[in-house]
Amino acid sequence: MDRETFQREQGIIGGSLEIQEIVDVVRQVAPTDITVLIIGESGVGKEVIARAIHTASKRSKKNLVTVNCGAIPEGLIESELFGHEKGSFTSAVETRKGYFEIADGGTILLDEIGEMPLATQVKLLRVLENGEFARVGSSSPRTSDVRVLAATNKDLQYEVQQKRFRPDLYFRLRSVNITVPPLRSRKEDIPLLLEHFVKEFTAKNGMKFEGFTNDATDLIMSYHWPGNVRELKNVIESMLVLENGRRMDADTTRKYLKEYHVPVMERNLPVVMNRTVEQAERELIYRALVDLKGSIIDLREMMLQQGNSVPPETDALQIDQTNGNGALSLSEMERRMIVNALERHKGNRRLAARDLNISERTLYRKIKEFGLHE
Ligand SMILES: Nc1ncnc2c1ncn2[C@@H]1O[C@H](COP(=O)(O)OP(=O)(O)OP(=O)(O)O)[C@@H](O)[C@H]1O
Ligand SMILES: [Mg+2]
Repeated sequence: MDRETFQREQGIIGGSLEIQEIVDVVRQVAPTDITVLIIGESGVGKEVIARAIHTASKRSKKNLVTVNCGAIPEGLIESELFGHEKGSFTSAVETRKGYFEIADGGTILLDEIGEMPLATQVKLLRVLENGEFARVGSSSPRTSDVRVLAATNKDLQYEVQQKRFRPDLYFRLRSVNITVPPLRSRKEDIPLLLEHFVKEFTAKNGMKFEGFTNDATDLIMSYHWPGNVRELKNVIESMLVLENGRRMDADTTRKYLKEYHVPVMERNLPVVMNRTVEQAERELIYRALVDLKGSIIDLREMMLQQGNSVPPETDALQIDQTNGNGALSLSEMERRMIVNALERHKGNRRLAARDLNISERTLYRKIKEFGLHE
């Protein structure tokens, strides 16, 4: 089967080189039982890729079970994954199968794997190494025939540096990985996706669409799409419904790009217009600094591992500290970003977490850590 046919069958839209390469990897790995790590920002299509791997595999007749590791409370995650014996903890009134048993013969997608607690990571590593796990409250090992896929929108290497992710699990997972780039960096996919979503929605709802003006298309192409393909799909559906299929010009289109972002600085980082520019800029700088700190720590580690000496001034990076110039420490910046995000969303933690690009559970933890109250 050629690539185009495969892509069409799997419903993966996109003609960019990036998507072509991803599709080729999907075709290569699908027939095997290799664990694949799928990396990419929220809404880029990680689940689409995972589903394609499952559907094109010999396991396609069985289930693809998706587990969102970021949404399960830490105390319950092991019982959800591996099951539990009756009476193993207070609320365990019945014996329960975990997802690894439920997915037997099929595929399990561990979504938001970066959110998996360290203690559970050890157990996952064991499953990956020898297929064994135990129900909570039992010591007898079980096995199940499951192919594991994992997805994350986090930089796992950074998580490893921060000691939130086990390096052995990280190395095990990253041996085969697929990185799905953000939509803004593969713009040639936008018209194809646009056409696809318009067709799909108008056909499903028996409606007509008069199309976009050139200006509107230009605007859509230049938009930053922070929510990637999911945002594009949502925007199109809202437009079609609310404008009743009328021709869309640039002004009308702009209204639907709710968080219209204007590119600032060379890196095309977004500024949300309804915040003060100063506030937004400061946040960008903080973010860039946190990023930069992560990269320097990575580099430093790499140099050390290769037996090189490192500049002594990079020692300080290992510890969060306020520098003597009265500048804020990274953790203070973090605290302020969280306070601002919570204020912006009137205390709605779900929205604040999404805005900060962290999981709700992480936000809860940070709120506690920083002693922030409602
Ligand atoms: N290449 C694509 N072709 C067709 N549809 C796509 C493509 N990429 C994404 N989509 C659609 O965009 C939406 C978001 O995709 P998906 O759920 O796979 O993203 P994700 O990366 O898993 O997001 P999250 O990190 O938030 O879980 C879905 O409706 C999906 O069908
Ligand atoms: Mg997903």
